[in-house]
Amino acid sequence: MSDQVLITGASRGIGRAAAERFRKEGWRVINVSRSPCTVPDVINVPVDLAVPGWEPAVEAALRGGAGQGRLSVIHNAALYEHDDALTMDADHLRRVLEVNVVAPLVLNRLARPLLTDGSSLLYVSSTLGEKAVKGVASYVTTKHALIGMMRATCQDLAGTQVHTACVCPGFTDTEMLREHMGADPAVRASVAGMTTFGRLITPEEIAGVLYLCATTPVLNGAVIHANLGQIER
Ligand SMILES: NC(=O)c1ccc[n+]([C@@H]2O[C@H](COP(=O)([O-])OP(=O)(O)OC[C@H]3O[C@@H](n4cnc5c(N)ncnc54)[C@H](OP(=O)(O)O)[C@@H]3O)[C@@H](O)[C@H]2O)c1
Repeated sequence: MSDQVLITGASRGIGRAAAERFRKEGWRVINVSRSPCTVPDVINVPVDLAVPGWEPAVEAALRGGAGQGRLSVIHNAALYEHDDALTMDADHLRRVLEVNVVAPLVLNRLARPLLTDGSSLLYVSSTLGEKAVKGVASYVTTKHALIGMMRATCQDLAGTQVHTACVCPGFTDTEMLREHMGADPAVRASVAGMTTFGRLITPEEIAGVLYLCATTPVLNGAVIHANLGQIER
């Protein structure tokens, strides 16, 4: 009997590294994203989480693993847009909320009947889940919301043997960060210089933290700062 994990956004970056890690540990892995995860033996559910109506496809994939061991759901997919708290269009915020906050809520509901003892609901927030920088208001807002949702999840799971945690990565070397930094090597070096180790975090490091969370119930309700010691300016 194998354990199974559903990861949103495992087509690349942190999600893909997590898919690789859980496969290596023998878990059944389901990826939910628009493009496929190329890690061998991952089950792909090709949906756009910004467009409601994806639930039946995800539910079918989850049911395919029913009767297996633990289930872990990792809410990892996110939109990271440049916007401004004072000028942002409401429909723009609704779209970001749909992917970053509403999708996790819906997935939790779909997963609930399959949450056997030892299962977990894991959130991926950000250092920007607890502070803000200029120009990414919808991201900051939704990443704060995920920490709140994890804390509420913890309370509402009371009496079960299911746990929850929220991982807050720092600057991790993925497409999302590269798109945000642009191509200038000087900008990349300056971002790398914002950790006390003077380098970017690898997606595999965050995947390791997610695996630890999935297999460590005592981390229930924990907000985990996985940022390699971010230098505050
Ligand atoms: N990289 C960092 O420095 C950093 C720092 C802090 C927190 N984080 C958090 O870590 C998580 C992963 O980030 P990452 O850097 O690995 O990002 P990434 O490389 O941009 O990957 C994002 C993933 O989300 C999926 N996704 C985006 N929109 C989607 C949609 N509408 N429907 C379904 N899937 C969608 C993408 O898949 P498709 O495009 O195939 O749909 C992709 O697999 C995010 O929650 C991010 O906020 C990252």
